[in-house]
Amino acid sequence: MRDMQNRHLEAAELHRPVLPAETLEALAPQAGGRYLDGTLGLGGHASAVLSAAPDIELCGLDRDRQALELARQRLTPFGERVHCFHSRYSNFAESLRTLGWSRVNGALLDIGVSSMQLDMAERGFSFCGDGPLDMRMDQYSGVPTAWHWVNRESFARLKECIADLGEDPQAGRIARAIVEARQKAPIETTAELAAVVERAYPPAWRAKGRRHPATRTFQALRMVVNDELGELRRFLDSILGWLPVGGRLVIITFHSLEDRMVKQAMRRWAEGCRCPRHIPVCVCGHQPEVRLLYKKPIQAGQLELAVNSRAGSAKLRAIEKIAEASNA
Ligand SMILES: C[S@@+](CC[C@H](N)C(=O)[O-])C[C@H]1O[C@@H](n2cnc3c(N)ncnc32)[C@H](O)[C@@H]1O
Repeated sequence: MRDMQNRHLEAAELHRPVLPAETLEALAPQAGGRYLDGTLGLGGHASAVLSAAPDIELCGLDRDRQALELARQRLTPFGERVHCFHSRYSNFAESLRTLGWSRVNGALLDIGVSSMQLDMAERGFSFCGDGPLDMRMDQYSGVPTAWHWVNRESFARLKECIADLGEDPQAGRIARAIVEARQKAPIETTAELAAVVERAYPPAWRAKGRRHPATRTFQALRMVVNDELGELRRFLDSILGWLPVGGRLVIITFHSLEDRMVKQAMRRWAEGCRCPRHIPVCVCGHQPEVRLLYKKPIQAGQLELAVNSRAGSAKLRAIEKIAEASNA
C-alpha cells in the first residue's frame, strides 16, 4: 500500500498538468458521464475528471508505455471506472469500440510531451541531459528515430522540417551545419546535435535569444518523428461524430501550427450558413454543429506561470456540440 501511494506521488511529481482548473471548467464533467483523455500522460487531468463525480468513467490513451504504466498506477484508486489503452489518440475509435462505447460526453487532448519525457535523457527529447537521438513517444512503433532524420535525411527535408515545424528563421544554416557535421562522423547524441545547432547560429542571434538556439530544432524533430500534426488532423476529422449534443471537446496545444488547426476546425464546426456572400437569403440550410466556449484561447495566468513555466505556451480551446451534423 505504501509503495502504491509512493507511486501515485511519483506520477504526480513527474508532470504538473497545465491549466487544471480551466480544463475542468471547460470539460464540465457530469455525473454518470463517459470521457476520453487522448493524452493521459501522468494522469493529472484524468484524475481531476474522475474525481468530479463518483460514477464517471474514463477511457485514457497514451502512445508512451512508460507514461501509461505510471498513469495506470496513479489511477488505481478509481478502480474499474478507468480504462487505459496503449494507443495513438488518432486511433481513439478502436479503444472506444473495444469498450462498447458509441459516444463520449467529453474528450480532452493535452498535446505534446510530458515533463517526465523531457526529463529522461535516455528518451532523447531534450538537450538538457545527454542522450541518444531517439524522440519517439512510442519506442515500440518502429518509426524512424530522430537519429535517422539528423543523419540520413536530405538537406532540403531537414531545412523544411526545421523551418515549418520549428519555425526557426535560421533553418537553412542549421540544416547545412548538420549535413556538414555528419559528413565527418554521425551525430549520435542530443548534446552533439545541440552543439552543432548552436555553432550554426549567428553570434548576434545567439546573444539576443532567450532560449537555447537548439530549442526549435528539437521541437521540429520531435514533431516530425511522432507525426504530431497528422495525429491532430486525423483526430479532428472524426471526434465530432462521437460527441452527443451537449458533449464537449477541450484541446490544449503548445505550438502555433497546432493551435491554428484546432481554431480552424472549431470555427468551421461553429459556422452556420455557408452560402456565397452575394446570395441575399440562405439557400444552403447549413446549421452550426457546435458553439465555441471561448472566443479567444485560454492561457495560463501569473499564478500558474510562477510554478509551471511549461504552461507559458499552452492554449486551451473548447466547444460544446449543439446539433448533429446537417446534411446540407
Ligand atoms: C502533455 S502530456 C499530458 C499530460 C496529462 N494531461 C497529465 O495531466 O498528466 C502529453 C502526453 O500525451 C502523449 N501523446 C502525445 N501525442 C500522442 C498521441 N498522438 N497519441 C497518444 N498519446 C500521445 C505523450 O506521450 C504524453 O504522455
